[in-house]
Amino acid sequence: MSTTWSERFEEGLNPAIERFNASIGFDIALLQEDLDGSIAHAKMLGECGVISPEESYQLECGLEQIRKEAEQGKFNPTIKDEDIHFAVERRLIAILGPIGKKLHSGRSRNDQVGCDLRIWLRRRIDEIDLQIEHFQKVLMDHALRNLYTLIPGYTHLQRAQPLSLAHHLLAYIEMLQRDKERFLDLRKRVNISPLGAAALAGTSLPIDRNYTAQILGFNGIYANSLDAVSDRDFAVEFASASSILMVHLSRLSDEVIMWATEEFGFVRLTDRCATGSSLMPQKKNPDVPELVRGKCGRVFGHLQGLLTMLKGIPLAYNKDFQEDKEALFDIVITVESCLEAMSILLAEGLEFLPERLASAVQSDFSNATDVADYLVGKGVPFREAYQMVGKVVKRCINDQILLKDLTLQEWQEISPKIANDLYDKIAPKQVVASRISEGGTGFDQVEKQLDVWCKRLGIKNNQLNV
Ligand code: ARG
Repeated sequence: MSTTWSERFEEGLNPAIERFNASIGFDIALLQEDLDGSIAHAKMLGECGVISPEESYQLECGLEQIRKEAEQGKFNPTIKDEDIHFAVERRLIAILGPIGKKLHSGRSRNDQVGCDLRIWLRRRIDEIDLQIEHFQKVLMDHALRNLYTLIPGYTHLQRAQPLSLAHHLLAYIEMLQRDKERFLDLRKRVNISPLGAAALAGTSLPIDRNYTAQILGFNGIYANSLDAVSDRDFAVEFASASSILMVHLSRLSDEVIMWATEEFGFVRLTDRCATGSSLMPQKKNPDVPELVRGKCGRVFGHLQGLLTMLKGIPLAYNKDFQEDKEALFDIVITVESCLEAMSILLAEGLEFLPERLASAVQSDFSNATDVADYLVGKGVPFREAYQMVGKVVKRCINDQILLKDLTLQEWQEISPKIANDLYDKIAPKQVVASRISEGGTGFDQVEKQLDVWCKRLGIKNNQLNV
């Protein structure tokens, strides 16, 4: 039995407790970051004269050797190592002998794990940022091709007013942009170095915290050593931003699922992203968006889990913190796989069906507001026009006809102010075109937004190949 503990201990751990306590089963994912952080720490110890430059160099070589061993599948820690930090240190001592024992000077696993986790999360945030941008481009590809394609717009899932399909898709691009901004904003708080806080109080050794922070690419150091090792706000913020992103992916998923039904029929799922039923030969199921919608549960759950884990913890480090890792790891796997799957689904997994969309917007009363607006244009007070049109809609529903089917004579009986130009005004294309207020679905407005997004996403000549 050899632990890294001090001579204070006489007996080894109960094997079940050893397994219960160990995090190596999952924090092995932090290997690269642990090596990066340790190399920076070794360099700093050499710079500051805590160890000799030669010793510092040897530590660095030993740590790089561990990286190579891992690449070749030869670094395989066991439960005996407890966690990634002990595993690396123990291997380093095996490689270097006594010099390896100098690495942990002026450092604790408390600042070390915080450092590793922050570097790891920062790297994942950068991946997620790129994935979001790619997904925005996939949506832009559809938007650019569907400025003049109309889709029914809904409120309360009841037909409301027709929209440009591009406008509908641009709404998701906006939502994703807020996600991106949230991740980049919280990245600032992730990217602060706790290294050098040691166990909780700092160290008596002459270390240079800014040196390690700088070579590890941190934007600064925690001002308070207690806060440095006690803070997991960044994990909560990440879980929160991830949850909001998942809400957005889930809402789009839900629309895709609806659009793909027989009842809506706005999209067709291609074979590459849909699945069949084991029993019903006619089925084609939207498993991808369903899984994305379903996976929200685990991400929201981790957010709740992290908040609950933190809320009663006295300063400073407590072992409860070990629970942060699996939550963050699972959030990252989930968010990254959902972004990838949704990008593929939108890129090659569904086709919009223009004829179905066109017939959908022709066959409803979603132009009723436009009749009212027309009357307002002729001087009728809006509330009065609204009541008049309500009555007309009721009559049309009874007669099983649409507003466009009423004759001019019938319209003029309703109001003598109505002329032939009404028919043009209530045609779906014109209904959409007329929404000219800034940010509205009018084609000119949407075209402006498409231009803005082409610039932001670096899309040339409004042409995109994703
Ligand atoms: N495995 C631990 C964690 O994930 C590392 C830090 C342990 N520190 C300690 N004082 N026991 O949080």
